[in-house]
Amino acid sequence: MKPVELSSDRVGVFAGDDPFVISKAWLEEARSTEINDPNAIALSTVDQDGFPNARIVLLKDIEDDGFVFFTNYTSTKASEILESGKAAFVMHWKSLRRQIRVRGAISKVTDADSDVYFSSRSVFSRVGAWASDQSSPLENRAALEQQVKKMTADLGDDPRRPPHWGGFRIAPIEIEFWCDGPDRLHDRFTWRRDADQFNWVVTRLNP
Ligand SMILES: Cc1cc2nc3c(=O)[nH]c(=O)nc-3n(C[C@H](O)[C@H](O)[C@H](O)COP(=O)(O)O)c2cc1C
Repeated sequence: MKPVELSSDRVGVFAGDDPFVISKAWLEEARSTEINDPNAIALSTVDQDGFPNARIVLLKDIEDDGFVFFTNYTSTKASEILESGKAAFVMHWKSLRRQIRVRGAISKVTDADSDVYFSSRSVFSRVGAWASDQSSPLENRAALEQQVKKMTADLGDDPRRPPHWGGFRIAPIEIEFWCDGPDRLHDRFTWRRDADQFNWVVTRLNP
């Protein structure tokens, strides 16, 4: 399905008919240029009062129609996500001088998908997911280390996924690609779902 174009000069790194394919290509390029964590996204949520919140998480998959990351389902971010059903993120690559912005509806991935990703993690990371009650107060570091010890003894060498841990998928209503240009004359193209939430309408924006 071809996007509807409201501009005539979407070329170079912006070219293509699918924003997920473009996102993947940019991330792939960043994997060889960024020093650390090319897949880091600043994930934004709002609390019950509409107060914004943001933190970094790692984007683990770009699917045909969504962006996936993993976290603790009892964390602050998860409460905010489950309450509002909405999220946004931005990823910025200093090495490429590019950013991608995404806004959309967010929901849990299937248990099966979370199981698959969880089992790919190191045993230490898996134990950590059990030991850390993410976002709740912790008396001191020793208490966390004690909890890791206890969980290591309890869970053995192949810990299953804790029920409080898994993935979220953002299904975008809007994706914006930004690339640095000379004299602050940057290039921006925003992809918005049209009224029936199916086709993409692509618009060039002023920098
Ligand atoms: C580079 C980097 C990567 C991170 N990746 C994740 C992640 O994938 N999942 C996660 O839950 N937290 C991740 N964190 C920690 C979060 O930023 C945050 O501290 C934590 O998820 C608790 O956030 P919350 O209290 O808003 O729920 C990462 C932090 C950094 C700096």
